[in-house]
Amino acid sequence: MDIQDFTGATLKHHHNENYDQSPDYSAELASVLDKESCDNAYRTISDWDGYAPSPLVALSGLAKKIGIADILYKHEGGRFGLGSFKALGGAYSVLQLLIQEVSKATSMQISADDIISGEYATIIREITVVTATDGNHGRSVAWGAEKFGCNCFIYMHAGVSNGRAKAVEAFGATVIWVDGNYDQSVHEAAEAAAKNDWFVVSDTSYEGYTELPKNVMAGYTVMTTEIIQQLPKDKLPTHVFVQGGVGGLAGAVCAHLWQSLGAERPRFVIVEPDRADCLFQSGLRGEITDVSIEEETIMAGLSCGEVSSLAWQILLGGTNDFVTIEDELIAPTMKLLAKGVGEDQPLVAGESAVAGLAGAIAARMNNELTAKLGLDASSRILIFGTEGATDPAIYEKIVGLSPADVGV
Ligand SMILES: Cc1ncc(COP(=O)(O)O)c(C=O)c1O
Repeated sequence: MDIQDFTGATLKHHHNENYDQSPDYSAELASVLDKESCDNAYRTISDWDGYAPSPLVALSGLAKKIGIADILYKHEGGRFGLGSFKALGGAYSVLQLLIQEVSKATSMQISADDIISGEYATIIREITVVTATDGNHGRSVAWGAEKFGCNCFIYMHAGVSNGRAKAVEAFGATVIWVDGNYDQSVHEAAEAAAKNDWFVVSDTSYEGYTELPKNVMAGYTVMTTEIIQQLPKDKLPTHVFVQGGVGGLAGAVCAHLWQSLGAERPRFVIVEPDRADCLFQSGLRGEITDVSIEEETIMAGLSCGEVSSLAWQILLGGTNDFVTIEDELIAPTMKLLAKGVGEDQPLVAGESAVAGLAGAIAARMNNELTAKLGLDASSRILIFGTEGATDPAIYEKIVGLSPADVGV
């Protein structure tokens, strides 16, 4: 498939009339996710063994091909060897939970270093964390549980691939399979936690449950902290196209760019699968609107029908535009990245990683949407390539090459 073939894509677009023009990140927003939490997440995570900033790759060949100035691709495939940006959220939230619980048990203020030192291993061994996942978040929670020494159960629905379940089990977690979809697995994990005194470490928040998802989002902002260090100061992005599942990723990115760049923050565009468009529908109505998933999308990590309430508090005023794409755009976008346009470095990107880029290319190929989104030859688009080949067998089936054949 050539770039021209993106021209026929069916996209839905909604311009958000609730967008907040103010350059200032308000105190109200800071109560959702403040700068101190973002700074603390960066200080803590950048101290973990194996930490390295993920690359911000300039896809100049692709940018030229679609007639814009640049595409900056934050490539998360190598993050902590876990294959996705989710490594930053779940594991960090497990650590924060353990700090809180060990502090309570010892009546002392315990630090991250104390947890990592192993001194409180006996207390930590009695703690169990649980979450629902479509793969990547569960892998991060399981990795964190193993790293810091607590027990872990992971709830998965039938649509999750065996490859992704095995990756979770490799960190010693127990996988529980659930009938139904992702949202059902969220509910079952919460019920099991209430019954067994386990701790839910979810990447989505709902009424009365916000602290741990807030830590997950703070962990994600390690990406934006790195980006701000990596970007040339005189060439800030004009647009961000970021994919949405429950909205935690988008909320974290939006909050941190707003805090850091104020009036210079880029135009913020959320891209979702049309089969799981809960953020789009919420944007249309100006309030949280859940949808039911009738058919699973190929973008497994984005197959969510229920919006994170915490993320929505940021996204309601922080999002300029909501866009949906069809599944048909995913394989061609993965192949484009695998091959590399012109001199662009070939990149391994999973099904959920490419949604933002697919939306950006398709929008640029569509005159009406190009105008509505303010795209032109001077646009510099920031993209979050949120996963590599998190299921290598699925990757090879879609792209026709193994991840090793492609490169990084
Ligand atoms: C690879 C990938 N990208 C993006 C997302 C979307 O993140 P969120 O659900 O926080 O919107 C996910 C969620 O699982 C994911 O796995």
